[in-house]
Amino acid sequence: MRHAAHLMLGSALVFAGCQPSSQQNSQVKAETPVAGQSDAPPLSEREVQTVSLASPDGRNKITLRDEGGMLRYTITRGGEEVIGDSRLGLLFANQYGLDKDLRILSFETAASDTTWEQPWGERRIVRDNHKELLIKAERVSPNLKFNIRVKAFNDGIGFRYEVPEQTGLGDVFITRELTDFNIGQETNSWTIPARMYNRYEYLYSEKPVGELQMVHTPATFEKENGIHLSIHEAALVDYSAMSLHQQREGVLRVDLTPRADGHLVKTQTPFKTPWRTVQIADEAIGLINSDLILNLNEPNKLGDVSWFTPGKYAGIWWEQHVKEGTWGNTDGPINHHAATTQATKDKMDFAAKHGLDGVLVEGWNVGWDGDWFNNGDVFSFTETYPDFDIEEVSRYGKEVGVRLIGHHETSGNISNYENQLEAAMDLMEANDVRVIKSGYVADAGDIKRVDENGIAQYEFHDSQAMVDHHLKVVKLAAEHKIAMNPHEPVKDTGLRRTYPNWVSREGARGQEFNAWGIPPNGPDHVLDLLYTRMLSGPMDYTAGAFDLRPNEMPVVAEDLQRNDYRSRIEHTLAKELSLFVAIYSPIQMVMDLERNYEARPDAFQFIKDVPTDWEESIALDGEVGDYAIIARKDRNSDDWYVAALTDADARKLIVDLSFLGEGTYEAQIYRDGPDADYETNPYDIVIETKDVTAADKLSLALGRSGGAAIRLKKS
Ligand code: NOJ
Ligand code: CA
Repeated sequence: MRHAAHLMLGSALVFAGCQPSSQQNSQVKAETPVAGQSDAPPLSEREVQTVSLASPDGRNKITLRDEGGMLRYTITRGGEEVIGDSRLGLLFANQYGLDKDLRILSFETAASDTTWEQPWGERRIVRDNHKELLIKAERVSPNLKFNIRVKAFNDGIGFRYEVPEQTGLGDVFITRELTDFNIGQETNSWTIPARMYNRYEYLYSEKPVGELQMVHTPATFEKENGIHLSIHEAALVDYSAMSLHQQREGVLRVDLTPRADGHLVKTQTPFKTPWRTVQIADEAIGLINSDLILNLNEPNKLGDVSWFTPGKYAGIWWEQHVKEGTWGNTDGPINHHAATTQATKDKMDFAAKHGLDGVLVEGWNVGWDGDWFNNGDVFSFTETYPDFDIEEVSRYGKEVGVRLIGHHETSGNISNYENQLEAAMDLMEANDVRVIKSGYVADAGDIKRVDENGIAQYEFHDSQAMVDHHLKVVKLAAEHKIAMNPHEPVKDTGLRRTYPNWVSREGARGQEFNAWGIPPNGPDHVLDLLYTRMLSGPMDYTAGAFDLRPNEMPVVAEDLQRNDYRSRIEHTLAKELSLFVAIYSPIQMVMDLERNYEARPDAFQFIKDVPTDWEESIALDGEVGDYAIIARKDRNSDDWYVAALTDADARKLIVDLSFLGEGTYEAQIYRDGPDADYETNPYDIVIETKDVTAADKLSLALGRSGGAAIRLKKS
C-alpha cells in the first residue's frame, strides 16, 4: 500500500509508517518542473516540516526536517541516537545549489518484503524487507526541485538524492556534497586513510572519531553504548566515490573524489546519487550478517551468468612476488621469466591433480620489461611473450580440465587498455578464459587517461572516470562471457548484484604485502578486514600460505623479531586455512608454490575440500579487529564449514553448532596445536575428526594469531 501526504503548514511530526505490501519500487509520478516559481512564504514564517521513517521492526528510525531552510536528518536505534543532527545538500558549479532556502513539499511511503536469489554468493536467498520514503523537496528561490529517497531496513538505513530534469538545471557539475554523519567524537572507529598514494592498501587504525581526518568507506564504528555502525555507499554508478572527512569534531562529511578536471561529478539531470548507507547492529557480527548494500543495488541486468562458475585457482604469481621468477622476459641477467608455456602446463597439472579450477598466469604479455610500474603505455593485451603459447596452454587446459585465468595489468593507463579492450577480450574468449584478473598499479591520482583532445589527465582510482571505466570493462567482459577481478580497483558498492560477472576484487592490503620485506599485514589485519572492507563485497585476498617465512633471511634464534625477516606471514598455518571460509570470494586463489603444498598434504586437504559458493553464511561471534567465528553452508552439499580466527591474543573460542541440520556430522578439524604461536611456532597444527550434532559445542584453543578451519561433513 502506498501512502501519500502533502504537508500542511504547521504540521509538527508526521510518522510515515504504513502497512507492508508486495509492491516494490513502483515509480512515483514526477512533479512538473516550474522554474523560478514557488508559493512558499518567507523563510522566517515557515514552520519546520518533519518526516520520519522506521524500519520494519521499528528499531531504526530516520527523521528528516527542513529547519532554517536547511535539510537535516537524525538516525536512532531503539530510541538511542546513532547519527545526531546532520546536514544534507549538494552544491553545483555556476548555479544555485541545494544548500539553503530548502523546504519539504510532500512525501510518499511504501513497504516491501521480498526475497531474491543470487547466482553465487554468501547466501543463495536474500531477504529484502524495508520501508521506503520519498520526500519531495525544493529550493524555493530560485526554484529547484529534488527528492530524497530513503529505505529503512532492520539492519540499517540508506538514502540518496534524486534530481529530476527541470528548467534551469541541465548539465550539472557537482562541487560539493553536504551530506554529514554526526557520529560523535568519542565514537570508536576502524578506518584506513583516503586520498593517499597507496589507494586502499593500508593497515586499519582503531581510534576515536575525533582523531580522524579523511577516511575511506566502509568505515566501521562502535558507539559508546555498544551499537556498531558501518558507513558506506551502495550502487556507485557514474558518480565519484565518497570518502569521509571530519569537519566539526565528530561530524564526518562526504568528500567526493575529484575528477582530473577538478569537478567532483559531471552529470546532467535527471540524476541520482549513490545510496549513502548506515548499517546498524547491536553487535559487530550484525554488520557481517547484513545484506543492506546488496539490497540497495538493482537486480541482475545480465540474465543467465551460469557460464561463470565459482572455484579455486592456482597461479604463476607468488613466484614473482617472492622473486623466484620475473614478469618480464628480457630483464638481463636477473631474467627468469615465470610465465612460460611449460611452467603453465606444470601449474595446470598441479591444479588438475588437486581439483582446482583455474590457473592464473601473470607476465604472459609484452610490456613488463623495464620499469613496468611507470610504463603503462607499452602494455600489449594481445601480444604474448615468445615463450608463452596461449593457444597451446588453453588447449592443454581443456585436456586436463583446468581453465586459463587471464591477466591484464594496465599499470594505471586506462586509455591504453580501453584502446585494446575489444581485441583483448576477443583473445581471452577465444582461449576459453572465463575470469580475468586486472590491475591498476599506479599511485592514487596517477591513473593516466588521455582525453578527447589527446591530453593526458591523471585520475584517482575512485574518481567518476574510474567508476565509469570499471563498469565499461565489466559490461564488455560480460558480452564475452568473462568475469572480472580487478586489483587496485575502485571499492565495491554491491554492483555484483546488478553485474554478477564482477566477481571479486582487491581493494585492501592482500597477502602480497607479506612477500615484500616491508612490515607485513600483521596479526590483526584480517580481523580488521572482516568487519570493514569485507562489508563491501568479495575480496581476492589470496590466502593459503604454507611457507610462512618466504624469502626468509638467515636468522639466528635471538633475532626472532618481525623486522629481522624480509617477509613473513604473521599467522599460524591453521589461521591461513581459516581464511578460505572467513574471507568471502567466489574465486579463491590457492596462492603458494606447489612444493609447499606438496610438503603438507594433510593440511592441504582442507583447501582441496573447501567450496567457494555458499547456500548460507552466518557470523556467529566476534569483535572488530579481535576475533571472528563464521559458519557457511556449501551450496552444493549438506556440509557446513567453520572458520575461527584471532588476533595476536591467544584465546579460547566456543563454536555453538546449533546452526547444523538434523543428524550427525563428521567434524574434520584443522586447529592450532598446543604450542601454536605465529611468532615462535606457526606450523603447530592438529588435524582430527569427531562426530558432532547440532546439540554440541566445540571448544577451540587458538594460539597467538591462530585459527581453526572445520569441515562439518554430513554423515
Ligand atoms: C598488484 C596485484 O595486486 C598483484 O596481485 C599483481 O601480481 C601485481 N599487481 C602485478 O600485476
Ligand atoms: Ca595490489
